[in-house]
Amino acid sequence: MKNKTEVNKNGASLMYHPPKSIVKNAHIRNYEKTYEESIKDPEAFWAKEAEKLKWYKKWQQVLDDSDKPFYKWFTGGKINIIGNAIDRHLETHRRNKLAMIWEGEPGDVVTLSYHALNREVSKFANVLKSMGVKKGEIVTIYMPQIPELPIAMLACAKIGAMHSVVYGGFSVEALAGRIGDANSRVLVTADGGWRRGKITELKSIANEAMDRSPTIEVCITVKRTKQEVHMENDRDFWYHDLMSLPIASPRCETEVLDAEDPLFILFTSGTTGKPKGLVHSHGGYSVYTSSTHRNVFDIKDEDRWWCAADPGWITGHSYLVYGPLINGATIMMYEGAPNHPYPNRWWSMIEKYGITILYTSPTAIRGLMRFGEQWPRRHDLSSLRLLGSVGEPINPEAWRWYHEVIGGGNCPIMDTWWQTETGGMMIAPVPVTPLKPGSATRPLFGIEVAIVDDNAEEVGPGEEGKLVIKTPWPGMARTIFGDPDRFKETYWKEYEKQGWYKAGDSARIDEDGYIWIIGRIDDVIKVSGYRLGTAEVESALVSHPDVSEAAAIALPHEVKGNAIHTYVILKAGATSSKKLEEELRKHVSDEMGPIARPETVHFVESLPKTRSGKIMRRVLKARSLGVDEGDLSTLED
Ligand code: PRX
Repeated sequence: MKNKTEVNKNGASLMYHPPKSIVKNAHIRNYEKTYEESIKDPEAFWAKEAEKLKWYKKWQQVLDDSDKPFYKWFTGGKINIIGNAIDRHLETHRRNKLAMIWEGEPGDVVTLSYHALNREVSKFANVLKSMGVKKGEIVTIYMPQIPELPIAMLACAKIGAMHSVVYGGFSVEALAGRIGDANSRVLVTADGGWRRGKITELKSIANEAMDRSPTIEVCITVKRTKQEVHMENDRDFWYHDLMSLPIASPRCETEVLDAEDPLFILFTSGTTGKPKGLVHSHGGYSVYTSSTHRNVFDIKDEDRWWCAADPGWITGHSYLVYGPLINGATIMMYEGAPNHPYPNRWWSMIEKYGITILYTSPTAIRGLMRFGEQWPRRHDLSSLRLLGSVGEPINPEAWRWYHEVIGGGNCPIMDTWWQTETGGMMIAPVPVTPLKPGSATRPLFGIEVAIVDDNAEEVGPGEEGKLVIKTPWPGMARTIFGDPDRFKETYWKEYEKQGWYKAGDSARIDEDGYIWIIGRIDDVIKVSGYRLGTAEVESALVSHPDVSEAAAIALPHEVKGNAIHTYVILKAGATSSKKLEEELRKHVSDEMGPIARPETVHFVESLPKTRSGKIMRRVLKARSLGVDEGDLSTLED
């Protein structure tokens, strides 16, 4: 591939063409033709994709748009995502295929065939049932990256309960808030997990969160680290105890559900207020995740697929768990830090397990790049045939390192743009697409996007504008849990007349129709690819007794992409000091989790505000970067 670079017609950027071996065997040989067809008749396209799945009863209508923007897909159809991710594989050669290879940070290994995965999921589904878990109920899952995490998710889905996975790196306040919003009665957690050679304190965080959120009646804990933890009578149960009781029978019927029955909620940060729980459904999400995973990563039976995201985020839901299992792939999962005990940990696992596709974030690539190429060079990475990137724009330098050093110049990089809200990849190449480092290339099949100015007019090549999605797709979130008005307001109001979805990102399109994502235009911050809201960081700061007001902004960071910087007004009587600065950084980390820890805390006397009292974060940002502050006419003084 490296020998096949060329300068594109305006001479601006290099195009990377895929190697012949990839083109020859690709599921999609001609992107343009497939795309044109899919756009001409999207419903026919999605019906064809849906026909690849197991339905208990076929749908009557592909798309029901009678109540926009609450679109429904495959209405009248009966399905369960587990029927596709597990059950149907048991009737084929895949029964004995590895569904999962898992490696713990200390080096312990678990492998599960589809047969074994079915057994574990069925047993835990019966355990949940014995705890009274019913269809439609939301079970909160707060776990490290261990096999029991996907098992718990799949068990919920099997019986028609919804899961709400809270990222294991979040802390007390974030967990308590999400448990409360979901009204969860059952929490599944672990005593702890391994991270950089240390034990994380999951159960004690869960205990504190349960003290703040009284809805939990049952807490099931997996013994991972064997550390001492506090268990309460009548509330706390050990996972292994329950799984060894007769109630944990390995036989459990998969619940037959409506296509639109909800599968999970996943909380994500927004512009204002508390994180919102996006709802995804069994039918559309099954079709969308499996179709995009198959097309973009050209998945084959012999692949060993490694999505290195945590299941606590949408990437983990869609492409570590559901999409790949529906496609009958072998998934790789790893518990710990990429550089533990040494910076070759990932590369050694790629060699050891013969991984063929790696899907990760630019932050992870930049972080590993820092250690130098001697670490990957120690390993034979020739099993790799495709690479993937997700979560934030990938800078060309990291792209080239990933391509050359990890992919040996032979593995096309699928830079995939999407969101928690979209359920799956939206703008991404397929393996035959010529690539430009830093561009997610073109929209996927059935997806129509535009980049528009403030008057909703499409911008010209090279101009910056707002990214919108013009037509519905099966993987789209159905609503915000418990707040349909906010769903309308957040995503659909700005382009109500046109009926477009507002992505909240700015982007450019070049003369070849390639899309270049610039970043968020709202108060969402992407730190190391993780999504956080300025509002959440600010409210964590204000919960400290010395703080009266706070503002958080994102500034560029070499490895993390963005880092959080904060401005704090202290209450009368409190005095600024280096010690207090450190205390506040720790306070945010304790309340929300280490990823939210601010890089800096500045003590200030006032904050730039509009006359209506809204903090003008863009002014703070412009001042920090030493750039033009823009229009200041709404500034208070
Ligand atoms: O700003 C975009 C960025 O991540 C946001 C969505 O975050 P989240 O819901 O956490 O989902 C992340 C994983 C799908 C987007 O609005 N983003 C995601 N992928 C890319 C990206 N920015 C640039 N390039 C990408 N490939």
